[in-house]
Amino acid sequence: MTDTTPTPRTPRCTARPEPERSDVPLGIWPVAQQTAQRQRAGRYLPEVARHPGKMLPALARRIVAEYCAPGALVADPMCGIGTTLAEAALLGRRAVGVELEARWALLAEANLDHMLDAPARQQVEVRRGDARHLAEVCADLAARVDLVVTSPPYGCDAGMIDKRAWLSGGRLCPVDTLNYSTDKANLGHARGQAYEQAMAEIYTGCARLLRPGGHLVVVTKNTRRRGAMLDLAGLTVALATAAGFSYLGHVIALHAAIRDGDLVARPSYWQATQVRHARAKGEPAHLVAHEDVSVFLLPGTRKDPADAR
Ligand SMILES: C[S@@+](CC[C@H](N)C(=O)[O-])C[C@H]1O[C@@H](n2cnc3c(N)ncnc32)[C@H](O)[C@@H]1O
Repeated sequence: MTDTTPTPRTPRCTARPEPERSDVPLGIWPVAQQTAQRQRAGRYLPEVARHPGKMLPALARRIVAEYCAPGALVADPMCGIGTTLAEAALLGRRAVGVELEARWALLAEANLDHMLDAPARQQVEVRRGDARHLAEVCADLAARVDLVVTSPPYGCDAGMIDKRAWLSGGRLCPVDTLNYSTDKANLGHARGQAYEQAMAEIYTGCARLLRPGGHLVVVTKNTRRRGAMLDLAGLTVALATAAGFSYLGHVIALHAAIRDGDLVARPSYWQATQVRHARAKGEPAHLVAHEDVSVFLLPGTRKDPADAR
């Protein structure tokens, strides 16, 4: 007799124990009162628009202001065009970013040159390297960093938008721009177990960089693929706590403007197009109008040099 029992589907993320969440405070930050373009206009180099997954400047600024003091050292292991570095420097922090791709690292450098005056620029550095090897790429920063703030790739095929090609029936994003580059070492390409393992290595590296009592703040967005949700925020909490962090708080970064008591969504062109596409295929997709900001603390107390005397 044929067994007609449906084969159970493999879950996207491997099972893991739920962290204690009951006392984790939740906040909401309205960081999109202005569009992303308006937030960058006249400040950032126009060329940064080419990067497909930038953090909102208002969000980067808010994280830096909330989780470290002026003069503190901020690191971003996957810094893209360096939004976190630029905003940290403008708030009087020192900053170091790591980026795998030469083109984004060079653009980050050029943008910092453009945005910062000489004294601030001297306090910021971009390193080319693989975030999975932070212990080597940033060996000199071990236990010296006050805040790690980063936004990893989201496990979806974001790429550079080519509106003209799209409107004349072509691809929205040229294939060679998907997932930040064609380099398979770029975690934009990683999915499932490979993504989890890489991010676990990166959070372990972040724990080595941070001083005890320092913070890790990770910005993610839950995405959907063929109707199934990829719970990146939940995965981030599981991986960071496994790497030794305490889950301190959670913030919803609103990607919608608050106008007269209503929320006006501010989707990127890419996101709006993806959702329209999914709906046209009958998938129950909605715009996700927020990012998750997961906040962690590296336990322990800072060793005050005065104690050694
Ligand atoms: C979501 S973007 C970060 C954008 C950044 N917050 C900004 O505002 O420009 C993720 C970045 O991680 C980089 N990346 C991917 N894999 C990496 C790796 N193994 N090591 C370092 N950077 C990597 C990508 O090239 C991309 O620029």
